[in-house]
Amino acid sequence: MKHKILLIEDEKKLLRILKLVLEENGYKVKTAEDGGQGIDIWTQWKPCVVMTDLQMQPVGGMEVLKFGRLNFPEVPLIILTAFGSIKTAVTAMKNGAFDFLSKPVDHKQLLEIIEHALVVKKKDPKSLEDLIGSSNVMELIKKNILLFASTNSSVLINGESGTGKEIAARAIHQAGERQKGPFVKVNCAAIPRELIESELFGHKKGAFTGALQDRKGAFRQADHGVLFLDEIGDLPIELQAKLLHAVEEKTITPVGASSPIPVSVKILSATNLNLESMIAASKFRADLYYRLNTVSLHMPALRDKPADICELSFFFIKKFCQEFDKPVLKITDNAMRVLEKYSWPGNVRQLKNVIERAVITCSQDTITCDHLPENIKHIKPEQQLISRNMDENIFDMAAQEQNLMMCALEQCGWNQSSAAKVLGITRSALRYRLQKYGIAK
Ligand SMILES: Nc1ncnc2c1ncn2[C@@H]1O[C@H](COP(=O)(O)OP(=O)(O)OP(=O)(O)O)[C@@H](O)[C@H]1O
Ligand SMILES: [Mg+2]
Repeated sequence: MKHKILLIEDEKKLLRILKLVLEENGYKVKTAEDGGQGIDIWTQWKPCVVMTDLQMQPVGGMEVLKFGRLNFPEVPLIILTAFGSIKTAVTAMKNGAFDFLSKPVDHKQLLEIIEHALVVKKKDPKSLEDLIGSSNVMELIKKNILLFASTNSSVLINGESGTGKEIAARAIHQAGERQKGPFVKVNCAAIPRELIESELFGHKKGAFTGALQDRKGAFRQADHGVLFLDEIGDLPIELQAKLLHAVEEKTITPVGASSPIPVSVKILSATNLNLESMIAASKFRADLYYRLNTVSLHMPALRDKPADICELSFFFIKKFCQEFDKPVLKITDNAMRVLEKYSWPGNVRQLKNVIERAVITCSQDTITCDHLPENIKHIKPEQQLISRNMDENIFDMAAQEQNLMMCALEQCGWNQSSAAKVLGITRSALRYRLQKYGIAK
């Protein structure tokens, strides 16, 4: 099947050349000479990748980008920029563009970017659909999720409240072989102390006052599937030993029963507490921590991935408009700027709530600053998300990158060629990174 590429560019000559180059390389191409025409073709023809110029009359490239993020967020959009307008390209990237290509266009680079966009598009399977965000750090998280889903190892997910730990856990379940099995969630903080053991391992009728009949318990309910232990840091210390035993022996003994029952469960756990300092304070068992933390996934705070704020906002606007039976609302640039500047202590959950409120209170067709809460508009300087420079993102990425490499290496018994294959990079690229981070077995 030929991949469909839509080109939007008002310089007719350039448009013809780009079309020719792409067609010669086996792509199906349609062209448009301004944004409005481009949006029409996009809607009807459903291309796999869109490439657009920025400065066009009457409808420019930023409008096309906005349209795309809202209606076809899965389609990569590449920006064509005139020489010297790199700043606008960076703004476009922050707003969710996939990449940019500067004019005059180098044909080899053009083909490479299109190929890359198609690979990335292909890689986002259904299991990751609910996880919105295309920032570098989110792309790495998605890669990690697919990798972790392919093994039986326990995964500890950490991150502040509202960063998407549960949504990541569900994606790991969906992306793995256990997807046909159940996903059972136990919130260790929400269950009274005296009931947790029975909640996890079940009980026999008459095992204690009130045990009127046999109960299966979460481990057996999750048999052949995934058990998600949420707020694991709140598990009482006396139960931690029992949990460790269950995880290590792959058997459980219901309260009041005499013989153990085998179970096959993949354990995911999540916390926003620092388990390492809890271990130091003797509140969490180190042996259990190492068992649960075979691999770990860190969900970054929203302020550490500002590039995702725009995409998440569009996603939630669309979601709530559908839910409340409204036509999809637009949002002004000013309102979006406010959202992008705020530091979001409550992370994605807080952004979701703010958008829900804006959709409810907006009676016209566009969300403006008037629909946003006062506290996020008038923020103190220290709460502001000062436009973070790239280095900070790279810093965050470095941690994720190391995480990913360690996991791949462990999965492949430290065979570098196999690990490189799993990661989709060359062996020398892997070696370079291992040296860079000083990783050795
Ligand atoms: N990347 C994302 N894409 C879409 N929705 C997200 C994303 N991250 C978080 N959310 C949404 O934000 C809300 C909070 O996410 P979730 O419950 O997974 O967070 P959490 O880290 O488990 O929070 P807590 O520590 O408070 O339990 C949910 O409604 C979830 O759907
Ligand atoms: Mg949670």
